[in-house]
Amino acid sequence: MTAIRSVVLGCGSYLPERILTNAELASQVDTSDEWIVQRTGIRQRHIAADGEFTSHLAIKAAQAAIAHAGIDAQSIDLIVLATSTPDNTFPATAVSVQHALGINHGAAFDLQAVCSGFVFALATADNFLRTGAFKRALVIGAETFSRILDWTDRGTCVLFGDGAGAIILDAQQQPGLSTDRGILTTHLRSDGRHKAKLYVDGGVSSTQTTGHLRMEGREVFKHAVGMITDVIVDAFNATGANAESIDWFVPHQANKRIIDASAHKLHIAPQKVVLTVDLHGNTSAASIPLALSVAVADGRIKKGDLVLLEAMGGGFTWGSALVRW
Ligand code: ACO
Repeated sequence: MTAIRSVVLGCGSYLPERILTNAELASQVDTSDEWIVQRTGIRQRHIAADGEFTSHLAIKAAQAAIAHAGIDAQSIDLIVLATSTPDNTFPATAVSVQHALGINHGAAFDLQAVCSGFVFALATADNFLRTGAFKRALVIGAETFSRILDWTDRGTCVLFGDGAGAIILDAQQQPGLSTDRGILTTHLRSDGRHKAKLYVDGGVSSTQTTGHLRMEGREVFKHAVGMITDVIVDAFNATGANAESIDWFVPHQANKRIIDASAHKLHIAPQKVVLTVDLHGNTSAASIPLALSVAVADGRIKKGDLVLLEAMGGGFTWGSALVRW
């Protein structure tokens, strides 16, 4: 039986020019390059310039993805933008992207699931494409987390960075087999009992301020590996894939220790793991499409490869997706 699948046509990314190294951070707060690298694997992160907004990063990533896919922007009829750092409370940052691309048909909206945002956005777009409601989707993860960091809190300010990544999905008829190209399965979870472990202490309805990111790092760490591996096992069970059959593991880039522990628990070979956290830091919803873009550009991820995506973040939210490129 044939099936409509969301097939990846291309991807792209954008990082702000300014690089903030661990050494520079160590001159601002009581930390060191050694501490940051040892606990997180992060060596540097990019920071958006004054006047450079999430939409600006998203537009550049979207343009790169459109060029990589070799499509006309007018063929896109759905834009889903994952972010926790929108330009404004409303309208959605997605409509700024839509406008900049000269598109005024179809739908564009933002989605908020913090670090899991890209996986949630991918699943949302996939479900719309598979029902036939839309034909071609632009899925973006874009963040300016530098704007919600407390730059005096060494426990959080060393972890995050700014950036954007995007992917183009096309609804295509496939044979309906596990060898199909496209998104083969997605699994989304959330559990609000953990909402106070990672949050922003401000907001429109509560304080009328933007607020700053607050995190109980140890608590997040404690839950992360179990949640990540559970949802990957769900993806394996749904498709018959396993640690051996996947070609690439592209996890949310929060922390090298979490990524290493998750891969180890699942018996995923280290050489299959795409790591960018050293150069990008944690860019929340942008981290997976940024990592995908790096691994596609350097020739690692190729057409036909089986790619496992995973993310976990504030809420808690967590999810996985298995994609044949
Ligand atoms: N530099 C130097 N010392 C620091 C720093 C820093 N940047 N930050 C904290 N410390 C100190 C603490 O004050 C503490 O000192 P003390 O023992 O004198 O009290 C000591 O280091 C240990 O602090 P912990 O918070 O227990 O350190 P831990 O080993 O847990 O590492 C970290 C902290 C890296 C945040 C870790 O908990 C972690 O990786 N948690 C996961 C959180 C994460 O990745 N979040 C990303 C968002 S969620 C997501 O995307 C999945």
